Amino acid sequence: MSSTYRLAVVGTGGIAGLHAQALRDRLSDRFEIVAAVDPDADRLESFKSKFGVERGYASIEELLTAEQLDLVDLCTPPGLHADGAVAALEAGVGAICEKPPALSLAEFDRIAAASAASEGDFAVISQHRFGSAAERVRNMQASGVLGALAVAKCDTLWYRPEEYFAVDWRGRWETEGGGPTMGHGIHQIDTLLSLVGPWAEVVATAHRHRRATNTEDVSHAIVTLENGASVSITNSLLSPRETSQIRLDYDHATVELDHLYGYGDGNWTVTPLEDRIEEVMSAWFAKPRGVPSGHAAQFEAVADALDSGAKPPVNCEDARRTLELITALYASAFSGKPVRAGDIDPTSPYYQRMDGAGTPWPDRK
Ligand SMILES: NC(=O)c1ccc[n+]([C@@H]2O[C@H](COP(=O)([O-])OP(=O)(O)OC[C@H]3O[C@@H](n4cnc5c(N)ncnc54)[C@H](O)[C@@H]3O)[C@@H](O)[C@H]2O)c1
Repeated sequence: MSSTYRLAVVGTGGIAGLHAQALRDRLSDRFEIVAAVDPDADRLESFKSKFGVERGYASIEELLTAEQLDLVDLCTPPGLHADGAVAALEAGVGAICEKPPALSLAEFDRIAAASAASEGDFAVISQHRFGSAAERVRNMQASGVLGALAVAKCDTLWYRPEEYFAVDWRGRWETEGGGPTMGHGIHQIDTLLSLVGPWAEVVATAHRHRRATNTEDVSHAIVTLENGASVSITNSLLSPRETSQIRLDYDHATVELDHLYGYGDGNWTVTPLEDRIEEVMSAWFAKPRGVPSGHAAQFEAVADALDSGAKPPVNCEDARRTLELITALYASAFSGKPVRAGDIDPTSPYYQRMDGAGTPWPDRK
């Protein structure tokens, strides 16, 4: 049976507007936005009046004391995610959190521990897992029609001018947790892992070519997956023709995704070997179809999970695997060594901070 869940939006800046629009326009029978939180009174007021939200609070603590909630929706800057999630979970309320879920694995494990002890669950926004085409590729891979994966590519080539970093929390390890790898490429990297399965080892480089940030503005990685396939990953904020791409070369077909901030079925191309055309294309034209990636698709999956008593996606286990790969990418880039899954334990400096003991370049911010 489907219920309507009582949700509060915490942080009413840029991305919160997209969440509220998706919830109001597409999912008003599944979620009710009962309150919002922001210490910036003007932002809070304009969010409340735009989305018809009745009550507002200056802090998550006031919210949790005053309201009966099923979920908090954390849309605050990254440095506030862990404290917000732990506060909600300790109050027995589930939390859905914008990416990146935390600034470090240490912070993430604090959230995971609070989630394990709570009635509520923790889930991370990764809206590109949820388009119907990605689901179809996962189904095709599971059925064997594509054969085994041999090689893949995962590129987030975006452009952010110097002014973008004027926002105080951007471009610093302490508040953003990293540059394009952590803040932007995380979408594609997480979607990739949802398609290809667990990673085993990474060798990487990170560079600060242009921007006046403390974090990198470009990174490159070669990742070996548990299934033996290899993936090259590039994350850039210096690419004037912007694109987000995933390419998967299976034994029987190449599958490609080319989009920017979201995709529909039409952003995907499947090119089978000649003697596999019929079986591959009939699987590709099967259902599900027509659902674009985006926040609405993920929130719908969250509501479906809550209705059935399951943990909402993307759960702690999935989100940690992605955050661990990003941590390992930085650890490899700054140590000059390959890093394997499981290597970053609490004794590693990269467990506490994505830049470990520090970057090869001096701070500029
Ligand atoms: N999924 C996506 O596609 C996507 C896109 C953009 C941003 N994001 C992520 O969303 C998050 C927010 O980004 P944004 O661009 O909306 O930032 P923003 O700076 O526009 O908004 C953040 C809001 O949080 C408020 N805030 C600050 N301290 C607070 C506190 N203690 N309690 C409650 N609110 C507080 C600020 O006043 C501001 O209104 C980041 O983690 C970012 O990486 C995700």
